[in-house]
Amino acid sequence: MRRSVDGRGEGANGSLWWQDAVFYQIYVRSFADSDGDGIGDLEGVRSRLGYLELLGVDALWLTPFFRSPMADHGYDVADPRDVDPLFGDLAAFDALVAEAHARGIKVTIDVVPNHTSSEHAWFRAALAARPGSPERERYVFRDGRGPSGEHPPNNWVSAFGGPAWTRVPDGQWYLHLFAPEQPDLNFANPEVHADLERTLRFWLNRGVDGFRIDVAHGMAKPPGLPDMDPRADPSGMSSYFDPRFDNDGVHEIHQRIRKVLDEYPGTMAVGEVWVPDEERLARYLRPDELHLAFNFRLVLTHFDADAMRGTIERSLANAQPSTWTLSNHDVWRQVSRYGGGAQGVLRARAMALVELALPGVVYLYNGEELGLGNVELPPEAMADPRARTSGAAHSRDVARVPIPWEGGEPPFAFSTNAATWLPMPEDWAALTVEAQLEDTGSTLSLYRHALELRRDHPAFDGGEIEWYGAPAGCFAFRRAPGGLVCVLNTSASPVALPPGEVLLTSTELVEGRLPPDAAAWLV
Ligand code: NOJ
Repeated sequence: MRRSVDGRGEGANGSLWWQDAVFYQIYVRSFADSDGDGIGDLEGVRSRLGYLELLGVDALWLTPFFRSPMADHGYDVADPRDVDPLFGDLAAFDALVAEAHARGIKVTIDVVPNHTSSEHAWFRAALAARPGSPERERYVFRDGRGPSGEHPPNNWVSAFGGPAWTRVPDGQWYLHLFAPEQPDLNFANPEVHADLERTLRFWLNRGVDGFRIDVAHGMAKPPGLPDMDPRADPSGMSSYFDPRFDNDGVHEIHQRIRKVLDEYPGTMAVGEVWVPDEERLARYLRPDELHLAFNFRLVLTHFDADAMRGTIERSLANAQPSTWTLSNHDVWRQVSRYGGGAQGVLRARAMALVELALPGVVYLYNGEELGLGNVELPPEAMADPRARTSGAAHSRDVARVPIPWEGGEPPFAFSTNAATWLPMPEDWAALTVEAQLEDTGSTLSLYRHALELRRDHPAFDGGEIEWYGAPAGCFAFRRAPGGLVCVLNTSASPVALPPGEVLLTSTELVEGRLPPDAAAWLV
């Protein structure tokens, strides 16, 4: 149930606004373009706040809009305390926050502490300075291996593929766990931490309600930078020895971030924490660290009731509060993950009801409420640095295509400019916001209805879930004490529903039975 929360802080019953919130991730580049350059911007977001209020989300997460040469679309930050002219200016940001707050919507923003842009003043100074200088100590510069230092200092690979080290003209190497344009900062240097605190305070003082911390499992590097197991996955998600991520030292950094946030009651931070298991994830959620950490397991689980149930049980048992998400700008859209086409949409709709029935926090990714799938893009349109190093098949652009708002053809009122930064498919006319608002059977209508029930209906109270016996390929759980029952059918046959009043179904029932690839809510 929506808590009555006073201003930024605690609700009357002691709850905090974020503990059961539905966040909506806005990939700013792709949401709405106000100035006709084909790229989304802050004023575009402000102009669409009415839609977000209608949709019924509690809070926004805005992806980076800071000064950047855009080598990784803003995750390469050249000045973390200013707005890139591509996205607007500080006045546009302030106007957006003020209007969102007036509509009862919280605003959270990305912060990117692990690395800067190679165009950041610090990195330029580091390149101009000598090895061993204080300027280089803000980053991770090392001499190479081999007789003339011609080999990288260790065998680390970048999460985007290729080596994690780039050599500079004087022969030293610098570390970048992502693109070469994203040099890693050295958090053992107090100056680096002080600068992060300054950035946090800068935005907190402008009224933001919290942060999404990029690569929150990065930042700390182990002493001696030992080699990784060459079998480890570049993404950092395998169980082989991989000292690039999730080092114990990272927790002290989170404690220091938390201290800053605690000075601003009612604010929060969610971490992007890619770790292979829930026990590791739980370590980030200790009372003096992050408020929330994404549980990416639902993203990684295929559409199978037993597998989904295992994921949900492990998460609820280990990492509280659970922070559920089915997609973001880094992964395939769920419609495509579940097989694409009509079946992919049905399954994505079913999983939306599962996710929104669970206790905890939910993060939606812009466009999922429209049932958008990945878009096939011509290789020359790809702009993602991961496509450059790992090939077009690894491009994240397929899930970053601009949002279709209205009309019958691209750019569907996303922009006035037909040359949008990624091309929009011709066949999205039936998927626009305008078309779906009018259709009670649309995916958008399903999300609106589900969000309204989740917010207002007492059946959603309570943090416990109880599992029922269910036919093979299905599961059913009851939320307690509220009493909501959620049933998922991933089998190939229709199944009978348990007794009760049906509140919402992800697709029409067939003779009172729940068809395959569907979910239902009952009380
Ligand atoms: C995670 C972000 O979500 C992703 O888009 C980015 O490329 C990397 N971190 C590097 O900042």
